Amino acid sequence: MNWPNPRQVDRSPLELISGDAFFKEFGVQPTHFARAPGRVNLIGEHIDYHDLPVFPMAIQRQVYLAFRCRDDGFVRIRSVSEDFEEVEFEIGREITANLQGHWGNYLKAPANELARRFAVSHGFDGVLVSDIPIAAGLSSSSALVNVVGLALAEVNGLELETLPFADMMADAERYTGTRGGGMDQAVSIGGQARYAAQIEFGPLKIRHILVPEKWRFVIANSGVRVEKSGYAMSAYNARRDESEHALRIITKTASERGLIHSQVTGYRDVLEILGEDIAIEIAEAELEGTLLRRFRHVVTEAVRVGKAIGLMVSEDIQAFGSLMDASHRSLRVDYEVSSVELDELVVACREAGAAGARLTGAGFGGSVIMITEQEKVDEVLEGLSQGYYGPRGIRTDTDQSHFVAKPSAGASIITL
Ligand code: GLA
Repeated sequence: MNWPNPRQVDRSPLELISGDAFFKEFGVQPTHFARAPGRVNLIGEHIDYHDLPVFPMAIQRQVYLAFRCRDDGFVRIRSVSEDFEEVEFEIGREITANLQGHWGNYLKAPANELARRFAVSHGFDGVLVSDIPIAAGLSSSSALVNVVGLALAEVNGLELETLPFADMMADAERYTGTRGGGMDQAVSIGGQARYAAQIEFGPLKIRHILVPEKWRFVIANSGVRVEKSGYAMSAYNARRDESEHALRIITKTASERGLIHSQVTGYRDVLEILGEDIAIEIAEAELEGTLLRRFRHVVTEAVRVGKAIGLMVSEDIQAFGSLMDASHRSLRVDYEVSSVELDELVVACREAGAAGARLTGAGFGGSVIMITEQEKVDEVLEGLSQGYYGPRGIRTDTDQSHFVAKPSAGASIITL
């Protein structure tokens, strides 16, 4: 297995908390710890499910799981937080889901997927603790999926490489009802400290890009939760349906005009063959309203990702920031996944002196990511408190409102 050596990964006090809580709960010591980070997407939103490259990084906020193998097939998981009730289930062919949005589904999802593919006969007892803000667009749920998947792989002796495992976890998470892409699981597994991750799909690949030493990415939570059921989930799936529908119309037209082969079906090939300008020209002639806007977002966002990676390499922070601004505009106007609060927060970031800002993750609430130089961080944070949090009465003295994101290592597992 090519997992990072856990001894080189920063140990966290939270890991110790999960270990202590495990002992209190089960009366024995855990045999392992697993951890998986949340992520922040720098640019490339709502395009991973079209197999287009994206550019996120794993962050220092993590989910930690202390666990111990069981002889039977039961999984019993507690959270240190009292907001989450204990979940217990038996690994079998069919694992019945909880109600949509219930946190237990993120624990059952990897079990369901691994049991479908492998002989999985052992469950585990586990205690979880996390410092990833919840429902904030920072993939606390994919970190959960990953950490439980890792634990199950470990107790069942499954020898899995990182990228195929990440792919499996992306498939796994669809059990929860969202037709998501593979970005979150991939970066939470494959991230590297000090690097952002250029992620490609079909097949999954990660190229690590060094984040310039003086660049700071600040995450600001709007305070509006992205709920895992109801509107956000159906709106997410609807965006995917609409952009797929738009693509089908464009590929049909382009192949009738002899511009592409009739077997070309994906955004990636369409963009590669036609280029951005011609693809949009055809879309403007063939589509209107919602479908045109959805198509235009996907195509322009993909182009922005390519440019942004080059700008990080050449350390051009202003131009990188402008691309983040353009991404937000496209998400707001063309993809319609922003909200009043996210828009106001993006404006507040700019007014506070950030070089650029955009919503991050699926949208419909959650967080904004902004970029600034190291020496301006305090000024920007102060500006945010005055421009956004203060007027809304949102507390900024917890670790949940805004913080500087540290490009961090992906998941790891420790045998005690
Ligand atoms: C969620 C999904 C990802 C991705 C983003 C939007 O985080 O899990 O796969 O689609 O939304 O970019």
